[in-house]
Amino acid sequence: MIDIHNHIIYEFDDGAKNLEMALDMLKMAADQGITDVFATSHFNEVVHPEMEEDYFRKLDILRNESARLNLNLGLHSGSETFFHHYIENTIKMRRTGTLAEKGLYALMEFPLYLMPNGVEETLFKLNTDGVIPIIAHPERYSALHERPEKILHFIRFGGLLQVNAGSLVGDFGRTVKKIAVWLVENRYVHFIGSDAHSTGGRCFKMDKAAKMLADIVPADYLDAIVRGNGQKILDNVPLEKLAVQEPETPKGFLSRMKEKIGIGVR
Ligand SMILES: [Fe+2]
Repeated sequence: MIDIHNHIIYEFDDGAKNLEMALDMLKMAADQGITDVFATSHFNEVVHPEMEEDYFRKLDILRNESARLNLNLGLHSGSETFFHHYIENTIKMRRTGTLAEKGLYALMEFPLYLMPNGVEETLFKLNTDGVIPIIAHPERYSALHERPEKILHFIRFGGLLQVNAGSLVGDFGRTVKKIAVWLVENRYVHFIGSDAHSTGGRCFKMDKAAKMLADIVPADYLDAIVRGNGQKILDNVPLEKLAVQEPETPKGFLSRMKEKIGIGVR
Protein backbone atom coordinates (compact mmCIF):
# COMPACT_ATOMS: atom_id res chain seq x y z
CA MET A 1 0.00 0.00 0.00
CA ILE A 2 1.00 3.62 -0.51
CA ASP A 3 0.01 6.28 2.02
CA ILE A 4 -0.25 9.74 0.49
CA HIS A 5 -1.31 11.60 3.65
CA ASN A 6 0.26 11.58 7.13
CA HIS A 7 2.13 13.65 9.70
CA ILE A 8 5.29 11.67 10.44
CA ILE A 9 7.64 14.68 10.37
CA TYR A 10 8.34 15.12 14.09
CA GLU A 11 8.28 18.31 16.16
CA PHE A 12 6.84 20.16 13.18
CA ASP A 13 3.02 20.23 13.29
CA ASP A 14 0.43 18.39 15.40
CA GLY A 15 1.83 15.05 14.18
CA ALA A 16 4.70 12.94 15.58
CA LYS A 17 5.90 14.46 18.86
CA ASN A 18 9.52 13.33 18.52
CA LEU A 19 11.88 11.20 16.45
CA GLU A 20 11.11 8.10 18.50
CA MET A 21 7.37 8.40 17.85
CA ALA A 22 7.96 9.05 14.14
CA LEU A 23 10.04 5.87 13.88
CA ASP A 24 7.41 3.87 15.78
CA MET A 25 4.81 5.19 13.33
CA LEU A 26 6.97 4.11 10.39
CA LYS A 27 7.38 0.64 11.92
CA MET A 28 3.60 0.40 12.22
CA ALA A 29 3.27 1.44 8.58
CA ALA A 30 5.78 -1.16 7.38
CA ASP A 31 4.12 -3.86 9.54
CA GLN A 32 0.80 -3.35 7.80
CA GLY A 33 2.25 -3.59 4.31
CA ILE A 34 2.78 0.06 3.45
CA THR A 35 5.72 0.48 1.06
CA ASP A 36 5.69 4.24 0.49
CA VAL A 37 4.77 7.20 2.63
CA PHE A 38 4.33 10.83 1.57
CA ALA A 39 5.13 13.06 4.55
CA THR A 40 2.39 15.67 4.25
CA SER A 41 2.85 18.08 7.15
CA HIS A 42 0.44 20.98 7.58
CA PHE A 43 1.48 24.17 5.80
CA ASN A 44 -0.46 27.40 5.49
CA GLU A 45 0.13 30.50 3.37
CA VAL A 46 3.15 31.69 5.34
CA VAL A 47 6.09 29.41 4.65
CA HIS A 48 9.48 30.66 5.76
CA PRO A 49 12.46 29.11 3.95
CA GLU A 50 13.90 27.90 7.27
CA MET A 51 10.65 25.99 7.87
CA GLU A 52 11.15 23.99 4.69
CA GLU A 53 14.81 23.45 5.56
CA ASP A 54 13.73 22.01 8.91
CA TYR A 55 11.16 19.81 7.12
CA PHE A 56 13.70 18.36 4.65
CA ARG A 57 16.34 17.89 7.36
CA LYS A 58 13.88 15.79 9.37
CA LEU A 59 12.70 13.90 6.29
CA ASP A 60 16.35 12.96 5.58
CA ILE A 61 16.85 11.79 9.16
CA LEU A 62 13.73 9.60 8.86
CA ARG A 63 14.95 8.21 5.53
CA ASN A 64 18.32 7.28 7.05
CA GLU A 65 16.81 5.82 10.20
CA SER A 66 14.21 3.75 8.35
CA ALA A 67 16.97 2.39 6.06
CA ARG A 68 19.07 1.54 9.14
CA LEU A 69 16.08 -0.32 10.60
CA ASN A 70 15.50 -2.13 7.27
CA LEU A 71 11.91 -0.94 7.10
CA ASN A 72 11.89 -1.01 3.30
CA LEU A 73 9.91 2.19 3.14
CA GLY A 74 10.11 4.88 0.49
CA LEU A 75 9.68 8.30 2.11
CA HIS A 76 8.54 11.13 -0.14
CA SER A 77 8.05 14.83 0.43
CA GLY A 78 4.84 16.82 0.25
CA SER A 79 2.45 18.89 2.31
CA GLU A 80 -1.17 19.26 3.28
CA THR A 81 -1.72 22.89 2.37
CA PHE A 82 -4.47 24.81 4.09
CA PHE A 83 -6.79 26.57 1.62
CA HIS A 84 -6.18 30.24 0.96
CA HIS A 85 -7.01 32.45 -1.96
CA TYR A 86 -3.57 32.47 -3.57
CA ILE A 87 -2.79 28.84 -2.79
CA GLU A 88 -1.70 28.22 -6.39
CA ASN A 89 1.23 30.63 -5.90
CA THR A 90 2.23 29.05 -2.59
CA ILE A 91 2.11 25.59 -4.16
CA LYS A 92 4.30 26.65 -7.08
CA MET A 93 6.81 28.55 -4.95
CA ARG A 94 7.51 25.83 -2.38
CA ARG A 95 9.50 22.59 -2.65
CA THR A 96 6.85 20.94 -0.48
CA GLY A 97 4.03 22.37 -2.62
CA THR A 98 3.53 19.28 -4.74
CA LEU A 99 3.88 15.63 -3.80
CA ALA A 100 7.41 14.23 -4.19
CA GLU A 101 8.45 17.60 -5.70
CA LYS A 102 7.14 16.48 -9.07
CA GLY A 103 4.96 19.51 -9.75
CA LEU A 104 1.84 17.52 -10.62
CA TYR A 105 -0.25 16.67 -7.51
CA ALA A 106 -0.99 18.90 -4.51
CA LEU A 107 -2.80 17.80 -1.34
CA MET A 108 -5.00 20.51 0.15
CA GLU A 109 -7.44 20.86 3.02
CA PHE A 110 -10.28 23.21 4.00
CA PRO A 111 -11.56 24.47 7.34
CA LEU A 112 -13.57 21.69 9.02
CA TYR A 113 -16.62 23.77 9.93
CA LEU A 114 -16.98 26.32 7.16
CA MET A 115 -16.50 26.06 3.42
CA PRO A 116 -14.85 29.25 2.12
CA ASN A 117 -15.95 31.10 -1.01
CA GLY A 118 -13.85 30.80 -4.13
CA VAL A 119 -13.05 27.09 -3.85
CA GLU A 120 -14.21 26.38 -7.41
CA GLU A 121 -12.05 29.15 -8.91
CA THR A 122 -9.02 27.93 -7.00
CA LEU A 123 -9.46 24.33 -8.14
CA PHE A 124 -9.98 25.54 -11.68
CA LYS A 125 -6.88 27.77 -11.54
CA LEU A 126 -4.72 24.93 -10.24
CA ASN A 127 -5.88 22.67 -13.05
CA THR A 128 -5.19 25.38 -15.62
CA ASP A 129 -1.66 25.65 -14.22
CA GLY A 130 -1.17 21.90 -14.66
CA VAL A 131 -1.49 21.02 -10.97
CA ILE A 132 -3.97 18.33 -9.93
CA PRO A 133 -5.51 19.19 -6.56
CA ILE A 134 -6.23 16.33 -4.15
CA ILE A 135 -8.85 17.19 -1.54
CA ALA A 136 -7.92 15.78 1.87
CA HIS A 137 -10.69 14.00 3.79
CA PRO A 138 -13.81 15.59 2.17
CA GLU A 139 -15.95 13.39 4.45
CA ARG A 140 -14.76 15.32 7.51
CA TYR A 141 -16.00 18.80 6.51
CA SER A 142 -19.06 19.28 8.68
CA ALA A 143 -20.20 22.21 6.52
CA LEU A 144 -21.04 19.55 3.92
CA HIS A 145 -22.58 16.91 6.21
CA GLU A 146 -26.18 17.90 5.59
CA ARG A 147 -25.70 17.76 1.82
CA PRO A 148 -22.83 15.32 1.19
CA GLU A 149 -23.58 15.38 -2.54
CA LYS A 150 -21.95 18.84 -2.48
CA ILE A 151 -18.63 17.01 -2.10
CA LEU A 152 -19.00 16.04 -5.76
CA HIS A 153 -18.52 19.68 -6.63
CA PHE A 154 -14.82 19.30 -5.83
CA ILE A 155 -14.67 16.66 -8.56
CA ARG A 156 -16.58 18.83 -11.06
CA PHE A 157 -13.89 21.49 -10.72
CA GLY A 158 -11.02 19.07 -11.28
CA GLY A 159 -10.24 17.80 -7.77
CA LEU A 160 -9.47 14.23 -6.75
CA LEU A 161 -10.71 12.92 -3.40
CA GLN A 162 -8.64 11.36 -0.60
CA VAL A 163 -10.66 9.68 2.15
CA ASN A 164 -9.14 8.90 5.56
CA ALA A 165 -8.72 5.28 6.64
CA GLY A 166 -9.81 6.37 10.14
CA SER A 167 -13.07 7.79 8.76
CA LEU A 168 -13.91 4.44 7.16
CA VAL A 169 -13.38 2.51 10.39
CA GLY A 170 -15.52 4.93 12.41
CA ASP A 171 -12.90 7.01 14.25
CA PHE A 172 -14.70 10.28 13.46
CA GLY A 173 -18.25 9.15 14.18
CA ARG A 174 -21.18 7.64 12.30
CA THR A 175 -21.93 10.51 9.93
CA VAL A 176 -18.32 10.74 8.73
CA LYS A 177 -18.14 6.96 8.32
CA LYS A 178 -21.38 6.87 6.36
CA ILE A 179 -20.22 9.60 3.98
CA ALA A 180 -16.77 8.01 3.57
CA VAL A 181 -18.30 4.64 2.70
CA TRP A 182 -20.79 6.29 0.31
CA LEU A 183 -17.94 8.06 -1.50
CA VAL A 184 -15.93 4.86 -1.88
CA GLU A 185 -18.90 2.68 -2.82
CA ASN A 186 -19.71 5.09 -5.64
CA ARG A 187 -16.07 5.19 -6.73
CA TYR A 188 -15.72 8.93 -6.27
CA VAL A 189 -12.49 8.37 -4.34
CA HIS A 190 -8.98 8.18 -5.81
CA PHE A 191 -6.98 7.62 -2.61
CA ILE A 192 -7.31 6.17 0.87
CA GLY A 193 -4.78 7.89 3.15
CA SER A 194 -3.98 7.32 6.81
CA ASP A 195 -3.71 10.98 7.96
CA ALA A 196 -1.74 9.39 10.80
CA HIS A 197 -0.70 11.83 13.52
CA SER A 198 0.70 9.50 16.20
CA THR A 199 1.07 5.92 17.38
CA GLY A 200 -2.16 6.31 19.36
CA GLY A 201 -5.75 6.81 18.23
CA ARG A 202 -4.79 8.50 14.98
CA CYS A 203 -2.26 6.00 13.69
CA PHE A 204 -1.93 4.21 10.35
CA LYS A 205 -5.13 2.19 9.88
CA MET A 206 -4.78 1.42 6.21
CA ASP A 207 -4.89 -2.37 6.73
CA LYS A 208 -8.08 -2.19 8.79
CA ALA A 209 -9.77 0.08 6.24
CA ALA A 210 -8.64 -2.07 3.30
CA LYS A 211 -9.98 -5.22 4.97
CA MET A 212 -13.31 -3.55 5.56
CA LEU A 213 -13.51 -2.27 1.98
CA ALA A 214 -12.67 -5.69 0.51
CA ASP A 215 -16.27 -6.72 1.25
CA ILE A 216 -17.87 -3.75 -0.46
CA VAL A 217 -15.80 -2.80 -3.52
CA PRO A 218 -14.17 -4.85 -6.30
CA ALA A 219 -10.54 -5.89 -5.77
CA ASP A 220 -9.16 -3.87 -8.70
CA TYR A 221 -10.72 -0.63 -7.46
CA LEU A 222 -9.53 -1.29 -3.92
CA ASP A 223 -6.00 -1.88 -5.21
CA ALA A 224 -6.14 1.41 -7.15
CA ILE A 225 -7.17 3.51 -4.15
CA VAL A 226 -4.74 1.99 -1.64
CA ARG A 227 -1.78 1.51 -4.00
CA GLY A 228 -2.09 1.95 -7.77
CA ASN A 229 -3.12 5.60 -7.85
CA GLY A 230 -0.40 6.48 -5.32
CA GLN A 231 2.10 4.75 -7.60
CA LYS A 232 0.94 7.03 -10.42
CA ILE A 233 1.94 10.02 -8.31
CA LEU A 234 5.42 8.52 -7.97
CA ASP A 235 5.50 7.80 -11.70
CA ASN A 236 4.32 11.37 -12.38
CA VAL A 237 1.38 10.18 -14.45
CA PRO A 238 -1.91 12.12 -14.43
CA LEU A 239 -4.92 10.15 -13.21
CA GLU A 240 -8.09 10.05 -15.18
CA LYS A 241 -10.54 12.66 -13.94
CA LEU A 242 -14.01 11.51 -12.92
CA ALA A 243 -17.11 12.78 -14.62
CA VAL A 244 -20.05 13.38 -12.31
CA GLN A 245 -23.45 14.63 -13.30
CA GLU A 246 -24.37 18.23 -12.66
CA PRO A 247 -26.90 18.60 -9.85
CA GLU A 248 -30.50 19.30 -10.76
CA THR A 249 -31.39 22.98 -10.78
CA PRO A 250 -32.90 23.74 -7.39
CA LYS A 251 -36.61 24.39 -7.44
CA GLY A 252 -37.76 27.93 -6.83
CA PHE A 253 -39.37 28.98 -3.59
CA LEU A 254 -42.84 29.15 -5.12
CA SER A 255 -42.83 25.67 -6.60
CA ARG A 256 -41.46 24.23 -3.34
CA MET A 257 -44.26 25.92 -1.40
CA LYS A 258 -46.85 24.71 -3.89
CA GLU A 259 -45.51 21.19 -3.53
CA LYS A 260 -45.63 21.47 0.23
CA ILE A 261 -49.22 22.60 0.36
CA GLY A 262 -50.23 20.28 -2.47
CA ILE A 263 -51.37 22.65 -5.21
CA GLY A 264 -50.48 22.75 -8.87
CA VAL A 265 -48.21 19.73 -8.81
CA ARG A 266 -49.33 16.70 -10.76
FE1 LIG B 1 -3.70 15.66 7.64
